[in-house]
Amino acid sequence: MIQPELRDPFGRKIDYLRLSVTDRCDLRCVYCMPQGFDDYEAPDDWLTIDEIERVVRIFGQLGVSRIRLTGGEPLVRKGITEITQRLSRLEGIDDLSLSTNCVSMAKFAQPLKDAGVSRINVSLDSLNPEKFRKITGGKLSKVLDGLMAAKEVGFAPIKINAVAMKGVNDDELGDMVEFCIEHGFTLRFIETMPVGDTGCRAKDSHYLDLEVIRKQLEERFELIPSVMAGGGPARYFKVKNTDLHFGFITPISQHFCETCNRIRLSSDGTLYMCLGQEEKFELRPLLRGGASDDELIDAIHYALTLKPERHEFNDDKQVVRFMNMTGG
Ligand code: GTP
Ligand code: 5AD
Ligand code: SF4
Repeated sequence: MIQPELRDPFGRKIDYLRLSVTDRCDLRCVYCMPQGFDDYEAPDDWLTIDEIERVVRIFGQLGVSRIRLTGGEPLVRKGITEITQRLSRLEGIDDLSLSTNCVSMAKFAQPLKDAGVSRINVSLDSLNPEKFRKITGGKLSKVLDGLMAAKEVGFAPIKINAVAMKGVNDDELGDMVEFCIEHGFTLRFIETMPVGDTGCRAKDSHYLDLEVIRKQLEERFELIPSVMAGGGPARYFKVKNTDLHFGFITPISQHFCETCNRIRLSSDGTLYMCLGQEEKFELRPLLRGGASDDELIDAIHYALTLKPERHEFNDDKQVVRFMNMTGG
């Protein structure tokens, strides 16, 4: 049944749902989910695969056509292949993607491709094994194996997300450009956001304004402004005489909230209206309390009225929850 599309109070059309399928992860990136983190959601609170399918079917009826599965790390969720199979068949969903750290992608690449995932975004902040271990606690070689498996099965595009950090990986961003040219990956640099109490404050010692990086890269590569299909906030360039698209995601130095098209659903069924604000609406009690589809639709329309105009990251204000709950 056709339903009125989702619009927020500022007239923005919401057609992109980012769905966290677990808050667990097999890495511990310093800016996301630091060592020792244990504030996990209770397993009884995780939406079941049937509940996830029902919610996404309803969002599909409301004009949401893009679904991105996130985490934590989505590949650690039991049944991830079945989830993607069931979601990719739903009416109205024509872009099913996944954000992953690629640690176990070697095992999942083919089943996910067969299940209908067409493209993936991969977190990779360093090509140096020792540095990679310091940032994430994990092994670079596993991620590279996963990435090559993903390339092999033909996900397209494969976008690499690199959080740029002063004094950590800013000396190798040009090398990452070369790596992505060589393998045909798209590359995006991201400014650190102060989400969760990770010590990554807006203007802390690791924060890097990406305008500085753009100028540095212009000394090594000829950059031409460009556009790329997708629903996200990156501003893209092409490197002259190559096929590389690479972009800058600048939530701090130049926010992109006026074109926001997305909301987030966490693995315990909470709708978060903005990555950088606390407004939320709990769908799980309705899902488990016998609500009809019409009641869920009314609840989602109500939740949209809570969507704020923009995030406000600054030194005094930061979001309390950690990024692994809402998946970047
Ligand atoms: P596609 O265009 O669909 O590939 O998605 P995307 O560009 O949004 O990419 P992805 O999901 O990989 O997001 C990349 C990063 O951008 C995230 O990890 C966040 O750091 C940042 N980001 C994505 N969406 C938002 C948002 O709504 N607000 C803010 N502040 N940052 C965001
Ligand atoms: N700031 C910016 N990006 C972040 N991510 C996670 N935490 C942060 C943060 N504090 C991004 C990672 C990854 C995605 C899942 O979220 O780059 O690509
Ligand atoms: Fe895991 Fe991704 Fe968070 Fe790193 S950024 S700890 S890979 S969820």
